[in-house]
Amino acid sequence: MSEKKSFGIKAAMVIALTTGASTLITADGHDMRDAYKRPAEIPFPDENPYVEDKADLGKQLFFDPRLSRENNLTCGSCHNPSFAWEDAQATSVGTPMSRLGRHTPTVLNLAWGEIYFWDGRAETLEEQALGPIQAGGEMAQDMDQLIDELKAVPGYVERFEDVFPGEGVTPENIGKAIATYERTIVSAQAPFDEWVNGDEDAISDAAKRGFELFNTKAKCVACHEGWNFTDWGFHDIGLGDNDEGRFEVLEIDALKHSFKTPGLRNIVERAPYMHDGSLKTLEEVVDHYNDGFTDRPSLSTEMVKLGLNADEKSDLVAFMKTLSSDDPAVSLPKLPN
Ligand code: HEC
Ligand code: HEC
Repeated sequence: MSEKKSFGIKAAMVIALTTGASTLITADGHDMRDAYKRPAEIPFPDENPYVEDKADLGKQLFFDPRLSRENNLTCGSCHNPSFAWEDAQATSVGTPMSRLGRHTPTVLNLAWGEIYFWDGRAETLEEQALGPIQAGGEMAQDMDQLIDELKAVPGYVERFEDVFPGEGVTPENIGKAIATYERTIVSAQAPFDEWVNGDEDAISDAAKRGFELFNTKAKCVACHEGWNFTDWGFHDIGLGDNDEGRFEVLEIDALKHSFKTPGLRNIVERAPYMHDGSLKTLEEVVDHYNDGFTDRPSLSTEMVKLGLNADEKSDLVAFMKTLSSDDPAVSLPKLPN
């Protein structure tokens, strides 16, 4: 992960040959779609390997209101599976009825994550999970009190002891269990993937043209690369609010107003968009990139007026709609007593 990605290799990749039958072949002879093949397996870190019981425990914690001070909010209240693990609000409301400063990001596909939060202030999912439990505006819970509360639940004491023998209920193990569950939250195969795998009828011609634009004239691939459509980097794309994003963590001027590039899987279900939830539809997002952004010293050099016409804009939207998978419904876990 780098703060400002160089465009070198990709610039070569996106020079499409516009002659011949297909415009999806790059200058170096590759099919553009090859860079978007889904990985076969979920990666788990050596420090916190996958164990089924640990993931199950993590799921219980993710959906347990006892993790919040007022026992009224779960991680799933804001990261709701029905809204592709977001909550359809510009910014969510936390425990003391306080409006949060940023839009809830999805927890989909974070097993491949390199850094967490919009501003990258957490290095691992394990560390990230303990943030919202204690954050004043989110679950507002005191960690010592939470440990006491969970230790008073025999079902939890037993499960933690099974999964973490000799250690039991600790903040670190809460983080490990939740992170393991989160890594299992992966978007399923979408029509786009079927097309990448060779089914020409899986998506419309408009979506195919949109994919090509995404990789060429519209320059989206400069930051939204690979099967999950993110470089995990930080960029200022010229949104109008005053949030300084990554700058607040690193205090590097070039990173003012820079936020982590979100993946684009299941993006239609994830409206509204951006760290401030300021764009309501994918059409508004495309208009923003076309010519709606604010120019300022920290603006990414990849942000230039695109000159897309109405057909091209709707092709891009048609393409993004093919990234939604029909994921199985998530059933809530039975909580221990
Ligand atoms: C009140 C709403 C709310 C609750 C409850 C909540 N979150 Fe979040 N979550 C957010 C918001 C808002 C952000 C973005 C904050 C930021 O980046 O500054 C976030 C960020 C995250 C991220 C980072 C995603 C990324 O792409 O970097 C993860 C992971 C996450 N939350 C998991 C959890 C877990 C686990 C819990 C329960 C322990 C939880 N959240 C509870 C609203 C919430
Ligand atoms: C310079 C890098 C860059 C380029 C180029 C770029 N994006 Fe983004 N994209 C980002 C970043 C960073 C964000 C989050 C910005 C924020 O919230 O401040 C984002 C957010 C989005 C979102 C909203 C995601 C969410 O979870 O809210 C969509 C949709 C999107 N981009 C689509 C596109 C499309 C389509 C293009 C091409 C027309 C494009 N992007 C070009 C970096 C980029």
